[in-house]
Amino acid sequence: MTAVVEAVNLRKVYMLGKVPVEALRGVNLKVEEGEFLSVLGPSGSGKSTLLNLIGALDRPTSGKVLIDGADISTFNEDRLTDLRRKIGFVFQFFNLIPRFTALENVELPMAIAGLGKEERRKRAVKLLETVGLADRINHKPAELSGGEQQRVAIARALANDPRFLLMDEPTGNIDSKNASEIIELVERLNEEKGVTIIMVTHDQRLAKETHRTVHMLDGLIVDERVNKP
Ligand SMILES: Nc1ncnc2c1ncn2[C@@H]1O[C@H](COP(=O)(O)OP(=O)(O)O)[C@@H](O)[C@H]1O
Ligand SMILES: [Mg+2]
Repeated sequence: MTAVVEAVNLRKVYMLGKVPVEALRGVNLKVEEGEFLSVLGPSGSGKSTLLNLIGALDRPTSGKVLIDGADISTFNEDRLTDLRRKIGFVFQFFNLIPRFTALENVELPMAIAGLGKEERRKRAVKLLETVGLADRINHKPAELSGGEQQRVAIARALANDPRFLLMDEPTGNIDSKNASEIIELVERLNEEKGVTIIMVTHDQRLAKETHRTVHMLDGLIVDERVNKP
């Protein structure tokens, strides 16, 4: 099998004033097409940094990220924009636009991608149905529970039919019952649509539901476990 995402000796040093912070100290990782991978590790171990580098939101200090075998540091702006469109991001704090309805939040990435009004409305409704929110499409974020807001965020992440879903502690701010429902939803997307998923989590129980778990500590992957073949 070929890796769709590969990190090669990835290093990231942040400068805090004059003090260098080594967030990643040489991370190697291969993710297969259609895999559901979880990343566990304590706060500050470099999980978000790794996700941001893989998602081309930031650049490594050294080392490289390969997508389909191509080094993304060689991509020009057009190609990077194209790549980011293939990646759906889901964050811990949902990051929805407060004055937009659920429907408008899901439509936004499609509008940016240039999809026509009718087409994107139709697609947004369908995506909200997929995440079980057919009866909440005209609600604003403040009128939704945490779990519901995260489901809107997942629908939004799926708007442009991404190949990859990168999730940074998607259940970090919702209760455990809703967290289980979110994971079931994501599992279904992985199985039915073949979306490759990398999910950062604190929750060992949820990590066990994914195909494979890597453990990070102090900027390195220190352990790896296959949960399901
Ligand atoms: N923008 C930044 N500037 C300086 N240091 C940062 C920045 N982002 C993260 N760090 C530091 O890098 C390390 C890894 O952070 P992060 O990737 O956010 O870890 P995690 O997501 O596992 O909690 C931490 O020590 C953190 O304080
Ligand atoms: Mg983090």
